[in-house]
Amino acid sequence: MNSTESTLSPETLKEEIARLKKEKNALIMAHYYQRDEIQEIADFIGDSLALARQAAKTDADVIVMCGVHFMGETAKILCPGKTVIVPDAAAGCSLADSCNPEEFAKFVEEHPGYTVVSYVNTSAAVKSHTDIVVTSGNARKIIEMLPEDEKIIFGPDHNLGEYINSVTGRNMLLWNGACHVHDRFSLEKIAEMKRQHPQAKILVHPECRRPLQLIADKVGSTAALLEFAQKDDTPEYIVVTESGILFEMRKKCPQKTFLPAPAEDAECQCNECDYMKMNTLKKVYEALRDGKPEITVDADVAEKALRPIVRMLEMSE
Ligand code: 13P
Ligand code: SF4
Repeated sequence: MNSTESTLSPETLKEEIARLKKEKNALIMAHYYQRDEIQEIADFIGDSLALARQAAKTDADVIVMCGVHFMGETAKILCPGKTVIVPDAAAGCSLADSCNPEEFAKFVEEHPGYTVVSYVNTSAAVKSHTDIVVTSGNARKIIEMLPEDEKIIFGPDHNLGEYINSVTGRNMLLWNGACHVHDRFSLEKIAEMKRQHPQAKILVHPECRRPLQLIADKVGSTAALLEFAQKDDTPEYIVVTESGILFEMRKKCPQKTFLPAPAEDAECQCNECDYMKMNTLKKVYEALRDGKPEITVDADVAEKALRPIVRMLEMSE
């Protein structure tokens, strides 16, 4: 980038992104945890399930996945002929990192006869050892579709696994992984917020710990929490997930108040995913301009990982 480009204003960056998008037949997708300015320019915003569904059906030549690496991988596996870009290649996921593919493969091997269900927040390599992929938006539905006596391994998110076990009455064998954002919300701080805002309802993502799930008025994926807030008639909510979702909540429900929940060790009032926030408007512009950093997946791994992703899409239609 030359010195003029490095100082492009947000308005010019937005204009350039719009021009390049047309020129390259590109689609910009964004997760709800992205920075506000990225959600503003995205063609499509959604939770992990909606992003996978949209990737499967787009006719764009280039997908700019404003999210984290596993989301780009999922899109690439579903659309191997397209160019898939994540604006910052270093945007990873602590939850996906909590599941090493070799250790997971060994764990699966040690439990013959088990159906392996993996959360979408995993590497393509972990998905290649999986029978069915799920997201927080369809995990309950998919597990309930399996026979009651089916032996199930669920990984990597332990908190989501506990939640699904509790609502389905199953006894899935859980991998002990966690997301560094959702696993550090503070029950004490949220209880104190509730004392100060007694009429507020508590919205909790299932990646949060069990005690938080138990005090929630609604447990659900980002899209499910958003939908709940839109349909419900309460004026105020305590939102216990990454604070990026507040942008869409406030947009959809401008008359309501949404209070972000803080992490236990945080000085500030919210809890952000540093990986999700790595993507910036400037990086989106550069990614579109240069066609990189491109996501690639080893062909053999991609072939094996495609089956459980397609199974998820079919089972959650
Ligand atoms: P959902 O948007 O599917 O609820 O996932 C949350 C998440 O942590 C994505 O990284
Ligand atoms: Fe991963 Fe957690 Fe960030 Fe989601 S919020 S991308 S699960 S680290």
